[in-house]
Amino acid sequence: MQKLGAFYFSGTGNTKYVVERLCELLKNDFVVSAHDVCSPDSVEELRRSEIVVIAFPVYGSAPPLPIREFVFSNAQYLKGKRIIVVATQYMFSGDGAASLGRVLKKLGACVTHAEHFRMPNNISDCKIFSIKNGEEICGMLEKTNRKLEKFARKICDGTEFRRGFNSFSRAVGYCSQRALFRKHENEKRSLLKVDESACTGCGACVRACPVKNMSLSGGKAVPLGHCALCYRCVNLCPNKALALFGKAPPEIQYKGVPKQTLK
Ligand SMILES: Cc1cc2nc3c(=O)[nH]c(=O)nc-3n(C[C@H](O)[C@H](O)[C@H](O)COP(=O)(O)O)c2cc1C
Ligand code: SF4
Ligand code: SF4
Repeated sequence: MQKLGAFYFSGTGNTKYVVERLCELLKNDFVVSAHDVCSPDSVEELRRSEIVVIAFPVYGSAPPLPIREFVFSNAQYLKGKRIIVVATQYMFSGDGAASLGRVLKKLGACVTHAEHFRMPNNISDCKIFSIKNGEEICGMLEKTNRKLEKFARKICDGTEFRRGFNSFSRAVGYCSQRALFRKHENEKRSLLKVDESACTGCGACVRACPVKNMSLSGGKAVPLGHCALCYRCVNLCPNKALALFGKAPPEIQYKGVPKQTLK
């Protein structure tokens, strides 16, 4: 059986959930393994994988920075390989998966499958996006699970499927979100705000940040200006002391996929 490696970035667990489900569905047809792109063994695992899944949450109709860095710095291990692109999103992206797919094709990889999966919103400090937790999100997960089953069948039987690889989806993704998001992405990386009156210096954000953007100084959290915008720390801070896009920390944090659905 061919070795299929799934490489993901996941701020708040949605993409990790989707990748783990997909691996479960593919395990009878491939030798599967899943790896966080931020983990030290990911490059060696990529080198050894014959088929590669790249999975990420869509940020402004585009892949997050850690995924772009992983792809560009390891282009030699992607060239000529069969690639499956998986994107998770709350609402829509037009061509979120295809935006990375096009890059992969230019690097000489062969993108055979690409799909978007709806997952709960994790931007918790902006009132225009509502946060759902627990039972409230089970219906959405059921639909995603059914879509994953169909997607896995296409991968196993070799039926190529590429969502969003057309000029209409590309125009929608670019004009509705990507152009604006890309323009402001760099300045957003230093937007993280700490409410010092709420921060107890517990260090949970420092330990959890996938890109080591948090430190402690004088018993308070201090962002270092290279945030990947993943919303992990904003949603896990036990004292709700952090805000990213919003002016103030969230009233309700996103707590990830409910435990009962993780079986
Ligand atoms: C910075 C940022 C930008 C986002 N942009 C979009 C978007 O353009 N379209 C969308 O539908 N969801 C968007 N989302 C929602 C996430 O893509 C979605 O919640 C995703 O499943 C989170 O995955 P994760 O838990 O693996 O990080 C955005 C989230 C963040 C944090
Ligand atoms: S997790 Fe919250 S309380 Fe703990 S150090 Fe970070 S910002 Fe402060
Ligand atoms: S600072 Fe927070 S939002 Fe930014 S990358 Fe780290 S955990 Fe994610």
